[in-house]
Amino acid sequence: ADFDGQEVLAFAIELAKKAGNAILQGSQNRKAKAEADWESLTKKNTADLVTETDQAVEKLVKETIAAKYPTHKFIGEESWAAGEEAKLDDAPTWIVDPIDGTTNFVTGFPFCAISIGVAYKQRPVIGVVYNPFLRRLYSAWKGNGAYLEYLDEKGAQIGQPSKLPLNPIFPLSSLRHAVVAVEWGSDRTKETIEKKTLSFARLCGNPEEGVQGGQFVRGVRSIGSAALSCCAVAEGALDLWQEVGCWAWDVCAGAVIVQEAGGAVVGSKQAFLSGASKFNDVTPEVLQGRKYVVIRAIADSEGEKGI
Ligand code: IPD
Repeated sequence: ADFDGQEVLAFAIELAKKAGNAILQGSQNRKAKAEADWESLTKKNTADLVTETDQAVEKLVKETIAAKYPTHKFIGEESWAAGEEAKLDDAPTWIVDPIDGTTNFVTGFPFCAISIGVAYKQRPVIGVVYNPFLRRLYSAWKGNGAYLEYLDEKGAQIGQPSKLPLNPIFPLSSLRHAVVAVEWGSDRTKETIEKKTLSFARLCGNPEEGVQGGQFVRGVRSIGSAALSCCAVAEGALDLWQEVGCWAWDVCAGAVIVQEAGGAVVGSKQAFLSGASKFNDVTPEVLQGRKYVVIRAIADSEGEKGI
């Protein structure tokens, strides 16, 4: 076969550990550096950052992949920012965010991760997300389950059992019992912020207009990393995560992890109109659509109503 999923997964896991070490190294003094020169970190606005470490880690990951798999394609956040094309075709394509949660990285909020996804025939099939600060490594291969490993400082597994299968035990019965994560994103135009504010208000507290008959969700969170939000849903630590405006490299790996843990990934529009449980195929349109809802398996009766 031209694509050996097991081998690619094992390689991606080792690569994520290597990248994780580079992220940890890069985190030394990052805040002092940032305070000294915020301007140099700013991409489209002050809420959209890139650091030397993002670029160095992407370079490391990209070169390591190219040496091992010269025929595979690569789409990365920083390569795209530097003008490279991000076209998805049927070839195995690595879709990578070197540091997802760059703002967290700069401020030292320990929720950032290297996110390594692989799409094959335009569908996400491998996902590895590693948070080197909390040393938690999530991985999945389509059709073969999702796992969480706790690592020690040398990258070896710790704990008993050291590799936990992720499999939310029960589906979400109602959004009333849900802890939901949303993100503000880096698009701060009036139109976007007004829409987001309105939908967050509906989710968390307007008894007249609230979701599902005036009820509101139990809790709302924003952790600042799309990849880790997906992994939190896979773990059952969050019930739902929604974002409009992030990119394929933020979600490709997380999508496989969530799906293999029994959750669903859908484009927002589909989810809101039709019920999340019916759409669990991450089509190229969903992957590149920049609007995502990631949800724990939802009990059928609620799924029918849509979210
Ligand atoms: C960002 C994070 C954040 C999300 C943004 C992403 P980055 O990725 O995932 O949670 O709100 O849309 O761009 O820029 O830190 O790699």
